[in-house]
Amino acid sequence: MKSHAGCRVVRTGRYWVRDIRLASDGMRRIAWAEQRMPVMGVIRKRFEREKPLKGFRIAACLHVTKETATLVRALVSGGAEVSLCASNPLSTQDEVAAALVEEGVAVYAYRGMSESEYYECIGRALSVRPEITVDDGADLTVTVHKLAHGVQSPELESVQVGMGDERLDVEDIKGGTEETTTGVIRLRALEREGKLLYPIIAVNDSPTKSLFDNPLGTGQSTIDAIMRSTGMLLAGKRFVVFGYGRVGSGIAARARGMGAEVIVVEVDPVRALMAAMSGYRVMSSRDAAKIGDVFVTATGNINVIRREHVELMKDGAVLANAGHYDVEVSLKDLRAMAEVVEEIAPNVERFRMRDGRCLYLLAKGRLVNLVAAEGHPSEVMDLSFSLQALSVELLARERELLPSRVLDVPPEVDRAVAKLKLDSMGITIDEMTEEQLRYVTEWKLGTS
Ligand SMILES: NC(=O)c1ccc[n+]([C@@H]2O[C@H](COP(=O)([O-])OP(=O)(O)OC[C@H]3O[C@@H](n4cnc5c(N)ncnc54)[C@H](O)[C@@H]3O)[C@@H](O)[C@H]2O)c1
Repeated sequence: MKSHAGCRVVRTGRYWVRDIRLASDGMRRIAWAEQRMPVMGVIRKRFEREKPLKGFRIAACLHVTKETATLVRALVSGGAEVSLCASNPLSTQDEVAAALVEEGVAVYAYRGMSESEYYECIGRALSVRPEITVDDGADLTVTVHKLAHGVQSPELESVQVGMGDERLDVEDIKGGTEETTTGVIRLRALEREGKLLYPIIAVNDSPTKSLFDNPLGTGQSTIDAIMRSTGMLLAGKRFVVFGYGRVGSGIAARARGMGAEVIVVEVDPVRALMAAMSGYRVMSSRDAAKIGDVFVTATGNINVIRREHVELMKDGAVLANAGHYDVEVSLKDLRAMAEVVEEIAPNVERFRMRDGRCLYLLAKGRLVNLVAAEGHPSEVMDLSFSLQALSVELLARERELLPSRVLDVPPEVDRAVAKLKLDSMGITIDEMTEEQLRYVTEWKLGTS
């Protein structure tokens, strides 16, 4: 991951980015991604012709990567005015942010922002008074709801600074989308309390997203991030994965492919059984803590690795997180137990414990694959972001018809994206015969 953290951030009314002169580098990165995202290409061309988003204001809170740029460019081609802020303080690719500014997008994102700047940028993105929100992790959507419900929260001060004189009217917002598991969980909680104020399409939950992006995208890029930042040999290492869900199972498979001995820690008996029957060792977190060389969390939960585990870990153990927030490894416990904390390489911090052991934390406990590598490969984001683009189109088209609930991506959209991807890969599949179609929709036919 290239860092431009030394440069001063440029703030104008229209954008806050690290260095606008990086735009041409960014355009080259975006072109690389677009070549590997053929389904997005098809959607973008249609959007250019049909302008389904004409006049719509969209605020997006996403990892500002070259793949996100292809989504944003498609939305702009469809006629939308887009403001974009980062969904993580450390994941922005500064050259991509600069390139999008040159394309007329209001970008408020730079790598290495503080927490208050992060929320100021959310405020800036909201200052366009969006009609559609596009989110990854729900910080943008939850901010809108806190403002609308008058909930007091310390980060809202920074949001208000970012918004300046603009005031948000939630009535303007017709709908939103959510990209990741953690975001969907937060929004379902809002819905359960009867406080969700507009429809949200849970892009994360559709099969064409979660069967590919979560395991394959995160699996590969997490291993990539560990190797880029440490250069360590994974073969022969004891590699502990916390959480054998969609993300964790992908990481486990990739780590096994690299020759590691993979150990799974789970709290759900079904997932734990799946891991055991897939050939992994499954054990308690305390047992795993004693023997692991590398630990990766992927649970969406809090304090999964904490003091009681750190106390048991071997000298030299490496810790990383692939879940959405930097809460899975307890940074508070690590810091409290360490005598000295030093950054020994980009994205690698050494925690020297009082008893002399050294533990290594990658990417400050934030999404390791986006901070210490480039996030998901373009090929897989082609699926996730095609679903995003089509979900935004659906919200624009059917805004008056949808209930204020967390909604699934319609199955026909899911299948259409998968079909386009297969076409782009030159793969033809069968169709059911008339007889087969009847057979699978008929209850009277059985043993004959
Ligand atoms: N890094 C990325 O690029 C990326 C991509 C997609 C999703 N995510 C994030 O990764 C996280 C996991 O997503 P997912 O789709 O795999 O969710 P999931 O619900 O499919 O899996 C989570 C698993 O963690 C387990 N778990 C929960 N608490 C645990 C604990 N204390 N110890 C051990 N296991 C525990 C659950 O039982 C479940 O099996 C979420 O925060 C999600 O937003 C990250």
